[in-house]
Formats: sequence, C-alpha cells, structure tokens
Amino acid sequence: MIIAIDGPAASGKSTVARAVARRIGYRYLDTGAMYRAVASEAVRLGMPLEDAQAMTELAGTTKVSFAYSPDDPIPSAVLVGQHDITSAIRTPAVDAAVSLVARIPGVRSALVPIQRQFAEDANTVVEGRDIGTVVFPDAAVKVYLTATPEERACRRLGDREAAGHEAEIAVVAADIAKRDLMDSTRTASPLATAADAHVIDTTGLTVDDVVDRIAALVMEVGF
Ligand code: DC
Repeated sequence: MIIAIDGPAASGKSTVARAVARRIGYRYLDTGAMYRAVASEAVRLGMPLEDAQAMTELAGTTKVSFAYSPDDPIPSAVLVGQHDITSAIRTPAVDAAVSLVARIPGVRSALVPIQRQFAEDANTVVEGRDIGTVVFPDAAVKVYLTATPEERACRRLGDREAAGHEAEIAVVAADIAKRDLMDSTRTASPLATAADAHVIDTTGLTVDDVVDRIAALVMEVGF
C-alpha cells in the first residue's frame, strides 16, 4: 500500500512522512532527495543546468541509493555510488539548482520508474511533489501538506541554522517562493493537489498532530 505525501517546499513533508512511516512500520521514500542528488552532481561537475539532454543523461547515469541502519526503515544516508551525499544535497546551491533540473521531462522519466520500483510490493510512504498525481495515482491515501509562507520560511531557516549555515528569513522566504513558483508552473508533472488528496494545513500544528491525522486516514482504509 502506498501513502503519498505531497506539498510545497518546507511544508513539513519530510519530518511528517518519516514519522508516519515509523509509526505504521512502512518503508519511506524521499523522491526530492533523488532530484537533489542529480542537481548536486550537476553543480559538482559544473554542468549547465538548462541543458536538457546533458541533465537527462546525468539522471540516467547517477546511481542514487539509500543506506539503512539495522532495524530502521528510515534511511540514514543518501548515496551516489559509494559517496555519502546526505549533507551535500541540502545546501543553498542545490536548493537553487534543483527546480531547474527537476522540470526537465527526461530527468523525470529517468527517476520515476526507479521510484515506482522502490515501492513495488512494499508498503511505503512516498513524499514529493507529484506522487499522488503522477507517480502513484492509485495510492491508498493521498495527503497534501501546506503551511503559511511565514511558517515555512521559519522552518527552513531553522533547518539552515541547524546545519550550520547562516541565513536571513527574507532571503529564505524568497528562495522558497521562487522554487514553489517553478515547481508548480512547469509543464512536466507540476506540483499540484490531487483531486482525492486530503489537504492538511500544518500551520500551528505539532508533528504529532499531523501524524495522528494521517495515521487515522491510513486506519480508515485498513493498513
Ligand atoms: O522536497 P524537496 O525540497 O527535497 O524537493 C527538492 C526539489 O525536487 C523540489 O524543488 C522539486 C523537486 N521534486 C520534484 O519535482 N518532484 C518530486 N516528486 C520531488 C521533488
């Protein structure tokens, strides 16, 4: 069974999706990490991000995988080949590059089959932008998480500071707005709310509140 969790940048998807997976004992797939891995390789290699053919080839040859600790369904690291890129994919440079790379149809065509294969035959919580609309349109439960722009900027600022990067709230808010605009206006699988998604505004809610609501939706369909 697939639980699809979509939403804009910094809406709390990763935190909530991981907690839901732990709560109900499902696997977890962060599809954004896959787009980030390709973007970070492109940045590292100095490749032109607008070159659709080069980015498509890069997506086809970049071997993204996840590492796990024993008895934990949540990955402890993101790898490209043997290299741990967990921190490298969360930098401002990759934030700025990833929407440009993710809008290229060939990049999506390379990554979506891997996402489908990952969750094939396994109960999985999958988070992203197009999971309920394109990748798993038949997902048993679809959730679309939102939060006010102010709340999302505060959360992302907290992430940045925790990772040791300096940041200003106005700059973080502008980056998020730019990325959301690009993600929701692109032609290929734009960020959108599936017609049958449960929309949850997480503003002012705790992670536990949101996880409770999603777990209740999963119980309704019978996990
Ligand atoms: O969730 P995130 O911020 O890590 O996602 C990074 C970028 O990847 C986001 O700006 C859009 C893109 N993305 C996408 O296009 N489709 C997905 N299923 C997941 C992420």
